[in-house]
Amino acid sequence: MFLVANWKMNMTRDRIGKYLDALDGRRLSSVLTGTRHEVVLAPTHVYLEYLSGEASRRDLPVRVFAQDVSTRTEGAFTGEVSVRNILDVGAVGSILGHSERRQYFRETDAEVARKTGLCLKGGAVPLVCFGESREEREAGKTLEILRKQVSGVAEEAAKASKNGLDTPVYLAYEPVWAIGSGANASCADIREVILAVREDFSWPAPPRILYGGSVNLENIASLAALEHLSGFLVGSAWLDPEVFLNSILALS
Ligand code: PGA
Repeated sequence: MFLVANWKMNMTRDRIGKYLDALDGRRLSSVLTGTRHEVVLAPTHVYLEYLSGEASRRDLPVRVFAQDVSTRTEGAFTGEVSVRNILDVGAVGSILGHSERRQYFRETDAEVARKTGLCLKGGAVPLVCFGESREEREAGKTLEILRKQVSGVAEEAAKASKNGLDTPVYLAYEPVWAIGSGANASCADIREVILAVREDFSWPAPPRILYGGSVNLENIASLAALEHLSGFLVGSAWLDPEVFLNSILALS
């Protein structure tokens, strides 16, 4: 399983240090022994370098992802952070198109697809979030919305593969109504979405699909039993390193 802690805009250097103290190289390694789980931590851009440096200094088996990248490659774009920038400071991929970016910063499907293409081209792993709002679900538009959100991403994956690039694409199904709400999607909802996403596009290779939205210690093991589910993207619950470690144990 691909296990991604999305710290959002929550951590400081001091708190990151304490989080890593709690994970402790040996403790995390022993929790991961015999499993095929991969662990990813996603801080804000300013802590990417600190986190990746500390992770390697402490011998922690974690990878570092950014939470977003620019639609531009380089140049006069004040305040933007490029794919090259995040790779340069130790990140290996980026979350893209999180619903908070779509909702609060008006990010469009076209921009998310463009960012996906730039990641693939630059050698950073894209983890693309998609998901419907409560109104869209209630109006029976879930699959229609998801197809709109994912189609540009699938095109970018096909383009990259045609160009001989083999960086994998990860997707995260995150229904907007489930994020931070305490109400997770049901296994049946997630299964339907996974099948639609796998089957409705011509992926060069089946994308790995994660679930996110109110994942916690109580529900993670039953969600993990879903066929074709490749991991979790978790916000609130994994701000606590003990819950993070216990979640990995619950999956083992
Ligand atoms: P949550 O957030 O785990 O707090 O619901 C998930 C996310 O936003 O990625």
